[in-house]
Amino acid sequence: MKLTSRHLLLGVTGGIAAYKAAELARLLVKAGAEVQVVMTQAATRFVAPLTFEALTGRPVYTDLFDSAHEAAMGHIELARWADLVVVAPATADFIARLAGGRADDLLTTLCAATKAPVAVAPAMNQQMWANPATQESVKTLKRFQTLIWGPAAGEQACGDVGPGRLFEAAQLFQLVCDHFAKGLFSGVRALVTAGPTHEALDPVRFIGNRSSGRMGFAIARALLEEGAQVTLVAGPVSMKTPRGVTRVDVESALQMHEAVMQRVTPCDLFVATAAVADYRPQKSATEKIKKSGEQLTIELIRNPDILADVAALEDGPYTVGFAAETECLDEYAQQKRISKRIDMIAANLVGAEEGGFESSENALSVFWEGGQQQLPLADKLRLARQLITLMSEHFYARTGTENP
Ligand code: PMT
Repeated sequence: MKLTSRHLLLGVTGGIAAYKAAELARLLVKAGAEVQVVMTQAATRFVAPLTFEALTGRPVYTDLFDSAHEAAMGHIELARWADLVVVAPATADFIARLAGGRADDLLTTLCAATKAPVAVAPAMNQQMWANPATQESVKTLKRFQTLIWGPAAGEQACGDVGPGRLFEAAQLFQLVCDHFAKGLFSGVRALVTAGPTHEALDPVRFIGNRSSGRMGFAIARALLEEGAQVTLVAGPVSMKTPRGVTRVDVESALQMHEAVMQRVTPCDLFVATAAVADYRPQKSATEKIKKSGEQLTIELIRNPDILADVAALEDGPYTVGFAAETECLDEYAQQKRISKRIDMIAANLVGAEEGGFESSENALSVFWEGGQQQLPLADKLRLARQLITLMSEHFYARTGTENP
């Protein structure tokens, strides 16, 4: 689905077009978004909050000082939660208050407190739209990077004809989809590794690890969403390939090394999410190893380090590694970043109750030269999207190209 795991904060203000916001909420939910509706008091006189609650499966927030809602998710938390705020319909009064920097109700407070983009879909009488004060407010909002979606022109509820109609729900829905489809990595060629490797002991046994491939597949999908051309080299996992990703299946670390080295040269970005075995059995028996003595010793030899080999390439891609640790997360991750000479490393605790291997959620500590950022526990697709946003900032700085 187009908007899976996107967090949409839908603001509804008090205009006759508020009913269209219900259809917009329905379309957003159908496309996989999580939709949190915030209504002004005036909006509740046009459409009952219950309508939105039924459509989104979430309680509607209306009041800045509602202690029950503040206890569940406070307004600052809500402002941080949003990936995009859409106010539809936005009345002349709301637009004026937003442009004036007011924070005198929950919705204006959220707009002031969020780092997410804010889109405003005006809806009002054509004379109110033409009013110089409204036009000044709109200009101010544009200067503040607020997106202005509409209005459309046509017949109005009051009988006037002219600009001031709220865009139709389908049109607003398309603008939301387009907003997320812009693509931080448009045209970038990305190579991603994912999953475990299996190091054969004999035709039926192997040394492996607990990687499910989820994190790497989420990275591949998030890069694809951002417009990258993605090749995914996957160890043995039972994951569905995101549509549009080119997948190469391998079993062992040696095969993964070969598959990566064959494809890396034209790539701009390499993300090593795979849990590659550091060692493999020196010999893989051609027949099944038979039970014999009380002990069996297997000689292991080092596998090539795929990530370090890619990072050592002249004119190689921007390199992002992962570090799976059970202790001293930050220290070991930094050591790996420096010793492998990579641009960025995302470290996760494995073996803990939450996150890491197999789990659908994860948390990352991300390090680059001179900086670091924590990405708290979230589902792996959401986390991948956050990591990719962070990567894009450093990728363009290092490659000297422009973010489209
Ligand atoms: O697949 P999931 O169940 O979703 O779990 C995700 C994950 C825990 C596997 C993932 O988030 C993760 O941490 N991947 C890296 C695991 C790992 O092997 O870490 P490492 O610290 O051993 O290796 C450091 C880096 O070097 C990694 O980027 C690894 O891909 C790379 N490497 C390691 C050895 C090797 N021979 N070649 C490599 O490229």
